[in-house]
Amino acid sequence: MLAELSMHIIDIVQNSISAGADLIKVKIHELKDRDLLIIEVEDNGKGMDKDQINRVQDPFYTTKSFKRVGLGIPLFKQTAEHCDGSFQILSEPSKGTLIRATFKKSHVDLPPMGNLRDTILTLVVGEPNVDFVFEVETDGVVFVLDTREVKKELQDVPINHPEVVKFLREYIGENLKTMEVAS
Ligand SMILES: Nc1ncnc2c1ncn2[C@@H]1O[C@H](COP(=O)(O)OP(=O)(O)OP(=O)(O)O)[C@@H](O)[C@H]1O
Ligand SMILES: [Mg+2]
Repeated sequence: MLAELSMHIIDIVQNSISAGADLIKVKIHELKDRDLLIIEVEDNGKGMDKDQINRVQDPFYTTKSFKRVGLGIPLFKQTAEHCDGSFQILSEPSKGTLIRATFKKSHVDLPPMGNLRDTILTLVVGEPNVDFVFEVETDGVVFVLDTREVKKELQDVPINHPEVVKFLREYIGENLKTMEVAS
């Protein structure tokens, strides 16, 4: 189990980037009345076949040649199941992958979210050539950040320009401030 859910999100998004995705959607959805937290990462990367989907949930499977164990997916799955939740991988070769984990919000062992603002910023700024859609929702209040929209507004200014990063940090922080799920 990792110390923060945001670390799991970074891990899972990293897999999408390794799989060649150039559009990654991250959805964090809290449903208070159902005591539920849902985290989804969807990408348009190279995908996996049925056999691979089964194998990647086993901690000893990896396609990285320099290491013998892959732990990102098994750890995320273990955390979800330990917190009375569920874990699912939907994937199709050359189409993409959807990873969906659910958690019982009130479970005593549920790791804290961590700093969601900085997590989003790190991914957006660290991978300027990948587009992200972040959707954070707590009981009907939704914050969406779509980097395709941001880039359109910016025209030729890169998304990792210091002034843009400063603006995004404030913008994301302001929008997440009142959302319980972000803390
Ligand atoms: N989004 C994805 N698209 C395509 N393949 C994926 C995706 N996510 C994971 N995989 C495949 O599953 C394997 C296992 O992933 P996992 O995150 O568990 O371990 P890893 O990335 O190999 O190593 P680690 O995360 O521990 O650095 C990857 O090596 C990759 O082959
Ligand atoms: Mg990984």
